[in-house]
Amino acid sequence: MKKKKIDNFISLPCLANARLKNDDQNIIHRDCFVVDDFLKEYGKNKKYFIRTFGCQANVRDSEIVAGLFDKMNMTQTEKMDDADIIVINTCAVRENAVDKMFGEIGQCKSYRQKKCQVCAIIGCVCEQPSNVDKILNTYPHVNLILGTHELPYFCDNLSSLLKNGYKRLVNVKSQGGSVFENFPSHRQNKYKAFVNIMYGCNKFCTYCIVPFTRGRERSRLMKDIINECNELVLQGYQEITLLGQNVNAYGKDLNDGSTFAKLLEQIANLNIPRLRFTTSHPFDFSDDIIDVIAKYPNIMKSIHLPVQSGNDQILRLMGRRYNSQSYRDLVDKMRRKIPGLTLSTDIIVGFPNETEEQFEDTLKMVDYVKYESAFTFIYSPRCGTPAAKLIDNVSDEIKHERFNRLVKCLEKHISNYANSMVGNVFNVLVDGPSKNNPLMFSGYTEENKLVHFPSKNLSLIGKIIKVKIISSHTYSLIGEIYE
Ligand code: SAH
Ligand code: SF4
Ligand code: F3S
Repeated sequence: MKKKKIDNFISLPCLANARLKNDDQNIIHRDCFVVDDFLKEYGKNKKYFIRTFGCQANVRDSEIVAGLFDKMNMTQTEKMDDADIIVINTCAVRENAVDKMFGEIGQCKSYRQKKCQVCAIIGCVCEQPSNVDKILNTYPHVNLILGTHELPYFCDNLSSLLKNGYKRLVNVKSQGGSVFENFPSHRQNKYKAFVNIMYGCNKFCTYCIVPFTRGRERSRLMKDIINECNELVLQGYQEITLLGQNVNAYGKDLNDGSTFAKLLEQIANLNIPRLRFTTSHPFDFSDDIIDVIAKYPNIMKSIHLPVQSGNDQILRLMGRRYNSQSYRDLVDKMRRKIPGLTLSTDIIVGFPNETEEQFEDTLKMVDYVKYESAFTFIYSPRCGTPAAKLIDNVSDEIKHERFNRLVKCLEKHISNYANSMVGNVFNVLVDGPSKNNPLMFSGYTEENKLVHFPSKNLSLIGKIIKVKIISSHTYSLIGEIYE
């Protein structure tokens, strides 16, 4: 008789537990990434497809999952309908990210009925109870749901699902999290790399779901990060971006004297041509960090410094721990000490009950700082966060109108800056043929500006070359190879 397939719900998400520290928070787990013989055999001649939503932390996690699939002898495919295993790595930061993800899950339903044996949902959405409920109730073709803390045990869960023939396996441990080392990795880019320096976030900005989905702040040891960066340098990588939700707070949990400034300096000394980091919280941006950035030419002078709002009351309600004056003071100090500094930011429009005057303070901040680039968002209530409990009296129409005004205001400064680059020569790290025009190549300047230039020379990919800017659009530049 055929055995009836059953669900195995090992654990479900719980937002209250996600806030708590766990006992092994400061223990470093090494070599947890086990790929058993069963999976190595199973993977032969099979293909995997990974779709990644969200921030660089998710991009990096997907590279780790891809590394595990490689160890299972699987190959990567760019086509969802060609995959034996589909993984969707999800982001919960705003509702539109979640909606896109649900659209994508719907799309893989027909593939599950044919070739695909596993449809796995991983990442931040899985840490939210309401979303896991929705997946379980609406998408029966999803048969593996893993929380962010289960990533190191991805293969154990996959093996258990396949060996036992479960209908569905759900394993979401909501907790503070730990640090894992020695993971396999299939990096998507051969000359630009992301390196995690810490995980999680302790800031608990009142609108933000990230501390719940990613757990508490926990830093990797300096020696482990430096070893990883050193290997990348030896492999010929041209650019490293250090990752953390709040990189300036690096080391605070280690109690061994490690700080972000010390880490940055040691990595800059490895002679990587371009060193970047993201994201910086204005609260923890200490003088020693500014000094190290100013001192090393290979630390890029384009810094992401999310402001969120220019109004003191809104900043207080957001729990951001700075006010508009202290933010301006920090910007002034950074501009004084770091020649050639360019700043980018994140701004949220329509925080509950934001008034016209409060919104105008944000425009004033934009006009003061003159950001060279920015990400703008309409506030999206996140279930379980304190801000989601606030009753909002601002209509969607007003929020959209303010959003458009904000974008216009930002674009004025972004265009001015792009215009000021015309006629000058910049170092560009070449990515290769641009997506929309095969006659043009594209790449990024040190200031993180996208440049298109005519070329067919594939040997330039991954090299830093000089490009003279001949014209500018708001979000990109046109140039020609200078030498
Ligand atoms: N740790 C980083 C990035 C966090 S998420 C930081 O602190 O800057 C990236 C951006 O998403 C945030 O900076 C914020 O602007 C935006 N964001 C986060 N939660 C949001 C929400 N509930 N609604 C709208 N935007 C949000
Ligand atoms: Fe979210 Fe604030 Fe942490 Fe950034 S610092 S991840 S916005 S809680
Ligand atoms: Fe999204 Fe999670 Fe990153 S919620 S922004 S993928 S940490």
